[in-house]
Amino acid sequence: MRNKKLTLLEMQKMKKEHSNLSWITAYDLPFSYVAEKAGIDMILVGDSGGMVQLGYETTNPVTMDEMILLSKAARRGAPNTFIVGDMPQGSYEISTTLAVSNAIRFIKEAASDCVKLEGGKRVASTVQAIVNSGILVMGHLGLTPQSTSSFSGYRVQGKTVSSFETIMEDALALQDAGVFAILLEAMPSLPAGQIAKQLDIPVYGIGAGYGVDGQLVIMHDLMGFYQPFRPWFAKCYVPQVIKDFELYVAGLENVRETGRKTREDGLLKLAEMAVSKYIKDVKNCSFPGEDYSYPLHENELEDLMTSKYWKA
Ligand code: KIV
Repeated sequence: MRNKKLTLLEMQKMKKEHSNLSWITAYDLPFSYVAEKAGIDMILVGDSGGMVQLGYETTNPVTMDEMILLSKAARRGAPNTFIVGDMPQGSYEISTTLAVSNAIRFIKEAASDCVKLEGGKRVASTVQAIVNSGILVMGHLGLTPQSTSSFSGYRVQGKTVSSFETIMEDALALQDAGVFAILLEAMPSLPAGQIAKQLDIPVYGIGAGYGVDGQLVIMHDLMGFYQPFRPWFAKCYVPQVIKDFELYVAGLENVRETGRKTREDGLLKLAEMAVSKYIKDVKNCSFPGEDYSYPLHENELEDLMTSKYWKA
């Protein structure tokens, strides 16, 4: 059970000590409650909530008002966890004034601890304006779902020299603009690891392999709760814990009484066990491992190693 929010200093210390940060999405009371109870380091109220919670086909239709509603609910379930509010498409591109005002909404209305927005150099001045208004900002690079049509769909990033160099330059621009951390999405481990190694700030990953400073997963993928689609790198943890759950229930003296007193006789408990197992796997580096990381072919690695940004 987490009873104190993680601080930026602790995040930086974790990076220095190679202690992986565990991070999960949640968009409502039950799942944010479960995440905090399991001891997660950080929660993302992602605009992916528009898909897994509200049923949109992509994240593009998600509005600020919807993000605020989801973020408020998540905060109520996890009062002691560092929560990242995800700025939806259209909330930060039009003007820096609008971006700052929408970032402030996350902090004032939903009690989020920071905001995240997609993009590199092109959003650096917006990042700077939000940071100057006193709000923590996280960057998001690699596959950026709000602009997937410009990458021709959901495709792995950072596998070629030019893609890797673009992401590295964007990451450095974001670091200069003042982000406190960056999320990399959908990249093989080695190029993502190069970025994590060369930046001073923490670099986390979702589908970005094992070389980064922490892992993010979508709660609905971890729980097997989203039917239309599951990314290749996501792992459903229910099969991993279902036996333990059965044993736990079998060991209860009076299931009905336990349920009445604690509500720990059903899905809340099962979800807590699944999230706890995920946290344990992130901490001891068994997730994502090679199995849940995008492969990189030998010839692709040889090319990447010719980049001016590749360090031995
Ligand atoms: O909205 C979200 O959950 C995200 C992740 C896919 C990285 O931004």
